Amino acid sequence: MLLKDKIAIVTGAAQGIGKAIAKMYSEHGAYVVLCDIQEDKVKATALEIEKETGRKTVGLTVDVTKSEQVNAVVEKTLELFGRIDILVNNAGILRHALIIDTDEKMWDQIFNINVKGTFLFTKAVCSVMMKQRSGKIINMSSCSGKKPTLKEAAYSATKAAIIGFTRVAALEMGPYGINCNAICPGATDTDMIRNTFLTSPEVEQEWIDKTALKRLGRPEDQARVALFLASELSDHITGESLIVSAGELMGQ
Ligand SMILES: NC(=O)c1ccc[n+]([C@@H]2O[C@H](COP(=O)([O-])OP(=O)(O)OC[C@H]3O[C@@H](n4cnc5c(N)ncnc54)[C@H](O)[C@@H]3O)[C@@H](O)[C@H]2O)c1
Repeated sequence: MLLKDKIAIVTGAAQGIGKAIAKMYSEHGAYVVLCDIQEDKVKATALEIEKETGRKTVGLTVDVTKSEQVNAVVEKTLELFGRIDILVNNAGILRHALIIDTDEKMWDQIFNINVKGTFLFTKAVCSVMMKQRSGKIINMSSCSGKKPTLKEAAYSATKAAIIGFTRVAALEMGPYGINCNAICPGATDTDMIRNTFLTSPEVEQEWIDKTALKRLGRPEDQARVALFLASELSDHITGESLIVSAGELMGQ
């Protein structure tokens, strides 16, 4: 039980990587607050996890771009559990477009969700963690934050911003016993990539061929690393962005 009785908030947890993280945290003894903009789905996912693990699990609706909703999640978590040990800023969107086809609205939307959402949740939770003088913050970046991918100018810029934000957060919060790290997943089999670029068996094979391990990631591959970063096993690691890509990208 790596996270026995820890209290965790996971954003974007109705499905995909966030759901896998929430489930793994609960299996390892944490009480998890799942939040997502998909109201029915986040509640159903929380219920599913609670049934599977037998541990109290909460599903809350939130738009991570709205500070009042973010603050309400933090207040509700404190009301229910009294503390916050782990925050996973996982909610995110991907849009594929050349720069010439990227309009201002799309640019603002992707920055608001991926970057502003991460900032708002970190700000709301870090004051709680600073008082506790402990905490683990994990931000979901991407290999696209480290390498260029065609049609991902906006997305790539948000994921690079998350790496920079993570480093400064680690510097500011280190003295309070708070670790802040990022995960940079490679292509991981979720709706996000099935609905954008992984649209045929041929394209899927191209992505598999780019990896050293010759396979796409599964949400659980990312969840295992999020578990490590939330646990005391990673107490001496902060400000890092860990690439989890089956060797598609190495050590950059
Ligand atoms: N799947 C991949 O290959 C991959 C690779 C690198 C990074 N990532 C990152 O991992 C994270 C999870 O991605 P995923 O693949 O599970 O995608 P996904 O689309 O399956 O899940 C993303 C979740 O975020 C939620 N969300 C979107 N906007 C929101 C908002 N405004 N407020 C609250 N919730 C919101 C969605 O409802 C959804 O449940 C994202 O940050 C993504 O950028 C994914």
